[in-house]
Amino acid sequence: MNSFADRFPQNLLDALRKARRVAVLTGSGISAESGVPTFRDAQTGLWAKFKPEDLATPEAFQRNPKLVWDWYAWRRELVSQAQPNVAHLALVELERRLPQFSLITQNVDGLHQRAGSRNVIELHGNITRTKCFEEDIPVEKWTASGETPPRCPRCGGHLRPDVVWFGETLPPAALERALAASRSCDLFFSIGTSTLVHPAASLPFEALQRGAIVVEINPDPTPLTARAHHTLRGAAGEVLPALLRAAWSGENAS
Ligand code: APR
Repeated sequence: MNSFADRFPQNLLDALRKARRVAVLTGSGISAESGVPTFRDAQTGLWAKFKPEDLATPEAFQRNPKLVWDWYAWRRELVSQAQPNVAHLALVELERRLPQFSLITQNVDGLHQRAGSRNVIELHGNITRTKCFEEDIPVEKWTASGETPPRCPRCGGHLRPDVVWFGETLPPAALERALAASRSCDLFFSIGTSTLVHPAASLPFEALQRGAIVVEINPDPTPLTARAHHTLRGAAGEVLPALLRAAWSGENAS
């Protein structure tokens, strides 16, 4: 394990330059520097202030659809004001440099796509999209009637955010692509995730099992830390751009 203050290990830089297939898993930590709160930070995390069982389950929505809709509307607004940060941009650059690159994200904020990343696999949906609670199909347009949440123009059911709540299954095609990318990569990065929420949290371990080099970027330890080949302690917005500079411009700070 090395600290970010050290030089990046030469074998990591070589592996990055030589990599043919790279998979990256991101969590809310990568958007923290864009001003989007994480979930489990003891002070600023969303789950420090709100209870997931009141806001992020199908049962919560059935009990109080207005509360849940309004909470997501608040988060949607917050995300719309946020801008991608240098860590998001570094991943765009990485995608440009590498032959095969998959960006698997648990984030629902769409900041990777807004930064310019192309091959993004969204495991937990996207807060900017809406779907019908009853029919589970995407809805793009509806007539505002003053009712909260609005109603589905097809069936009259409530509309809900197109995100994955606790107790729900992940979109099968996205999970399949994420598993395939994790199992076939030679280098896997886990960035800004507490590695606690499954099945996303199992992806770095899938990569390890198949012999990939696994790198964690996080200021704090997680259940992956002890198993990762390299742990780069620090904020993604500091570590990622420095790592790219070290790999391709030869700037490896001492
Ligand atoms: N750079 C990198 N990592 C950071 C930064 C930063 N600037 N700031 C915080 N982190 C790390 C924290 O140390 C923590 O390990 O990001 C991680 C955020 O963890 P969580 O809040 O648990 O977020 P995440 O892993 O994305 O949560 C997974 O849980 O509630 C659900 O559906 C939600 O997708 C989410 C899932």
